[in-house]
Amino acid sequence: MSNLPAYFSAEIMPQPRYILAVESSCDDTGVAVIRGNEVLSNVIANQSVHEKYGGVVPELASRAHAQNIVPTLTEALNQANITPGDLSAVAYTYGPGLMGSLHVGVAFAKSWAWAHGIPSIPVNHMQAHVLAHFLGPKSNPKFPFICLTVSGGHTQLVKVKSALDMEVLGETRDDAAGEAFDKVAKLMGLPYPGGPVLDRLAREGDSKRYQFSRPRVAALDMSFSGLKTQIWQFLQQGQQQDPHFVRSNKNDIAASVQAAILGILMDKLQRAVDETGIQEVAIAGGVSANSGLRKLLLSKEEESGWKVHIPPFEYCTDNAAMIAMAGSKLIETGESFPLDIEPKPRLRFS
Ligand code: KG4
Ligand code: ZN
Repeated sequence: MSNLPAYFSAEIMPQPRYILAVESSCDDTGVAVIRGNEVLSNVIANQSVHEKYGGVVPELASRAHAQNIVPTLTEALNQANITPGDLSAVAYTYGPGLMGSLHVGVAFAKSWAWAHGIPSIPVNHMQAHVLAHFLGPKSNPKFPFICLTVSGGHTQLVKVKSALDMEVLGETRDDAAGEAFDKVAKLMGLPYPGGPVLDRLAREGDSKRYQFSRPRVAALDMSFSGLKTQIWQFLQQGQQQDPHFVRSNKNDIAASVQAAILGILMDKLQRAVDETGIQEVAIAGGVSANSGLRKLLLSKEEESGWKVHIPPFEYCTDNAAMIAMAGSKLIETGESFPLDIEPKPRLRFS
């Protein structure tokens, strides 16, 4: 069953096309409109409801998506100053992510597109994080490139051979890098999401004050759960000796924890470059907003032959503009997509 109208063909559609996208894989409801690589609107409704729980509560996330999705779409169309009739397609995230959250976006996006007689295009959220590099006027990475995709749910080293041909070279075997930031921040009594908070605290701290051992994981895979346990024990011991230990040393603790997490990422990235011989390097995902990681990569570019690509902040964390970009690359293949696509919480690269 195809949902592509008979007149739909990549060749006859106007260039560049207006594409609307819906993102609802976790706790951000996003709707964006792009035209070519130009982002006309990129609206995100953040869900503050999770803050008091110190993490995303799936049931609350789904409810908030259901509440936010129509106003977010209306706002995205208004900001882009277009009507539904201008659109060529609707792209939407169908995985990976939280089942309930994905359900809302998938059902809404397909129904809305169908009601307006335009095709709907399912997008892999992790592929879209990588393709965020093709948004906006800055220079694009050249294929093939290595992308370190670091988010709250995933940590992957990806060889990007073309926009839609990506190979995972290595990934975390347990927690994601963003999850490690968030969990340590929670142990320190800091608000959720902890990544940006630790990042800010680390800027004023001494990263060499506390040392943590690095896990030994084969090849290009990574692990962060051992580090988290090590830090938990370290914080417990510190608090036993001095009940104000964390509060009095929060900057140095944040800087040392950040250095440990970034150390693992940079080691594996270096290894991926050495093994593939590819020196075109990009980062993507929420943790690519980290100022320490950005600084390390820029100094690496200065001292080595690497060509480094860092996305603008607004395209690092979850957003719908990157989903629209992935949708536009999929349209170019001329492939048609059925309407019976369902959410895939554990979707991987094909
Ligand atoms: O890509 P993303 O928005 O959502 C997922 O697909 O998971 O990533 C969210 C993750 C969270 O774990 C958050 O703490 C982390 O990205 N993050 C950061 C920073 N900004 C966001 N981690 C470290 N430093 C930051 N500045
Ligand atoms: Zn993400």
